[in-house]
Amino acid sequence: MSAAPPPTLLVIFGATGDLSRRKLLPALGALHARGALPHRFVILGVARDPHPDDAAFRAIARDLLPDLDERQVHYQTIGEGTPDDFTRIAADIDALDREHGLDGNRIFYLALPPQAFDSTVEGLGAAGLNRSAGFTRLVIEKPFGHDLASARALNATLHRHFDEHQIFRIDHYLGKETVRNLLVFRFANPLFETQWNRDRIEHVDISVAESVGVGSRAPYYDRAGAVRDMVQNHLTQLLCLVAMEPPTAFDAQPIRDEKMKVLRSMQRVTAGDALLGQYAAGKAADGEPVPGYLDEANVPAGSRTATYAAIRVRIDNWRWHGVPFVLRTGKRLPARSTRIVVRFRSAPVKLFTRIPGCDVEPNILTIFIQPDEGFSLSFEVKQPGDQIRVGPRALDFHYRDAFPPLADAYETLLGDVLDGDLTLFVSAGWAERSWHLYQPLLQSPPDPVSYPAGTWGPRA
Ligand code: BG6
Repeated sequence: MSAAPPPTLLVIFGATGDLSRRKLLPALGALHARGALPHRFVILGVARDPHPDDAAFRAIARDLLPDLDERQVHYQTIGEGTPDDFTRIAADIDALDREHGLDGNRIFYLALPPQAFDSTVEGLGAAGLNRSAGFTRLVIEKPFGHDLASARALNATLHRHFDEHQIFRIDHYLGKETVRNLLVFRFANPLFETQWNRDRIEHVDISVAESVGVGSRAPYYDRAGAVRDMVQNHLTQLLCLVAMEPPTAFDAQPIRDEKMKVLRSMQRVTAGDALLGQYAAGKAADGEPVPGYLDEANVPAGSRTATYAAIRVRIDNWRWHGVPFVLRTGKRLPARSTRIVVRFRSAPVKLFTRIPGCDVEPNILTIFIQPDEGFSLSFEVKQPGDQIRVGPRALDFHYRDAFPPLADAYETLLGDVLDGDLTLFVSAGWAERSWHLYQPLLQSPPDPVSYPAGTWGPRA
C-alpha cells in the first residue's frame, strides 16, 4: 500500500447501519491511525434516516474514528431514493469536492442489503455519478446474487453504469492476512510448491467452523443457507488460492486469471457430492443450552435450510485430477476455526509398519486461517530410546509469536480500494462461474440431516 493515496471522497450508503458501524468506520479509524488515509479525505455518510444531520453522524463517527477532523465528516439523507434525491446528493458531492480539493476522486461504498443494490446503482448512474474528473470506484459486499440468474442480472446492472475495473466486490475472507499469506506460502516457498500436486497430495480439507448460531439473521439466512452463505464464496475462494497455478505476476489480472482457471477445471456440484445438516437443540461452545435452528427467532416452521455443508469437489486438471477437496462449514459447532488441512501421500514402501509401535502417519500441513493464525507441519520422528518407536511431532509457526496483532480484513480491503488495487476483489466472471458450479446442488439439495448444537455436524 502506498504511503498516502490521492485525495478522495468516500460516500458510504447505509452509513448508519450495522456494517458501517461495526466494520467500515473502525477500519477507517485504523487506517487513519497508521497514516494510510489520503491527506485530503472526506466521508459523506448517506442513509434513509432523515433525522441525523452532519452533527449526529459526526457523533457516531467520532466514537469510531476519534482522531478524524470533524470537517471531514458529513451526512446526507437519501430520502426515498428518487432521481431528485440522487441529483441532490450529486450536488453535495460536487460541493464537497470543490471545497476540499478532492480532484473528482470518489468511492461509493454500498453498505446496503442486497435488495437495495440495483436501485442505488441505477440512481448513481442516472445522476451521472458513475463518472468523474478523477477516479470513481464502486464497492459492494456479498452476496452477489443468490443464484446464477440473479448474479448475471446484478452484473448486467453494474456494467450498465460502471466498467469492471471500477467495481470492487468484497469477499471479506480475501482480506484476511492468513488468506493473503496463502499465495506467499505457496509461491515464495518452492519446498512446498514442488510437492503441491496429485503425486504428493492425497487429500485437501478446507473447513470454516463457527460456534455461533444464526442469531438475529434468520430473515436473510433462511433463504441462503450454508452453501450460499459460505461455500459458494468464502470456501470456494480459499479453494482457488490453494489449487491455482502460479500467476505470471503478483498483480490483480494474472491472479484473477489463475483463479478462474481453477473454476473452469472444477466439476459442477450435485446432491451426490454434498452432505447437508441443520443444528438441533444442544449446547453452545460455553456449555450453555441453546435452541435448535427451527426454534430460532424468525425461522419459518419446518424450514429445510442447511446450517452445515460438507461438499466433495473435483478439480479435473493435470495438477489435481483424482485428489478430493472437501469443503466443510457449519454453524453451532464446538469451536470457531478456519483451517486448510493438506494430507500428503504416505511413503511408497512402508519400512516401519512391521515394527510394533511404528504406525507411521503421513505428513500433514495445517494452515490455520483463524483464530491462532499460522501453520503446523507434522513429521514422524524417532522417539528416543533403544527401540525404534515412531510418533508424529509438529513444526509450528504462529503469527502471534512473531508479529503484532493482525489487521482486520476490512482495514486491508479499504486500503486497497483507496489504492485502486483489485487483487483481493471478486471479478464478475468469478462470481458467475462459481454460481454456475453450485447451481445443480442449489436446485435439488439433499435433505439436511439433524445434528445437535455443539457437535461437529451430522455423524455421516
Ligand atoms: C459471512 C456470513 O459472510 O461470514 C456469516 O454471512 C458468517 O454467516 C461470516 O458468520 C463468517 O466470517 P468470519 O470472518 O467471522 O469467519
